[in-house]
Amino acid sequence: MVEVIFGFDLSVGENDIHWNMLMHALIKPEIPTAEEFLKIRMDAGWGSMPITSAEIALRNSAVCVCARIENRLVGLARAIGDHVVCFYVSDVFVSPQCRGQLLGQSLVGVLVEELHNLAEPDAMIAVIPLAGLERFYERSGFVAAPNETFGSGLVRVFKDTREGVT
Ligand SMILES: CC(C)(COP(=O)(O)OP(=O)(O)OC[C@H]1O[C@@H](n2cnc3c(N)ncnc32)[C@H](O)[C@@H]1OP(=O)(O)O)[C@@H](O)C(=O)NCCC(=O)NCCS
Repeated sequence: MVEVIFGFDLSVGENDIHWNMLMHALIKPEIPTAEEFLKIRMDAGWGSMPITSAEIALRNSAVCVCARIENRLVGLARAIGDHVVCFYVSDVFVSPQCRGQLLGQSLVGVLVEELHNLAEPDAMIAVIPLAGLERFYERSGFVAAPNETFGSGLVRVFKDTREGVT
């Protein structure tokens, strides 16, 4: 378990009072509930999905680490993979009120440490960051591609063809 202490800028009530306080976030390996996962994902501006899909996704995590402040989920980092040689960082979310305080960096650090404990030597962890977030992962030891060893990453996103979805 890792304890992160950081400044917390919270806006409360109609008068938009700002409380600036030091908060303790505890980061540890843990699978959150599907409801918590969907909430933090949606708060980050990502789409919804059926709760059963969230349950399947979480169950199939190789490692998931959560940050909580007084039991409230404020951050999550998750990787999928074969549990031995190949992993992929699939989600990193920090609640909007807690951003910019290195919580995201700490979550990725704990995630990588946990994966390192599972992995065989020469195992690899891949991530395809959103545009602009490359530096965020480089700070945790990820190396940008293309380079002498790896080509550019490629992504294929399935188009949602369900009725009523644009
Ligand atoms: C990305 C995210 C997890 C970062 O969490 P965070 O706790 O604010 O990040 P940290 O405070 O640990 O940031 C560490 C560094 O990354 C940079 N960084 C953080 N968010 C960034 C962003 N959206 N774009 C570019 N750089 C960013 C910070 O500027 C900081 O670098 P600096 O010290 O040079 O300023 C958070 O913004 C988030 O949940 N975003 C929405 C979901 C998302 O996009 N997830 C990542 C998918 S690849």
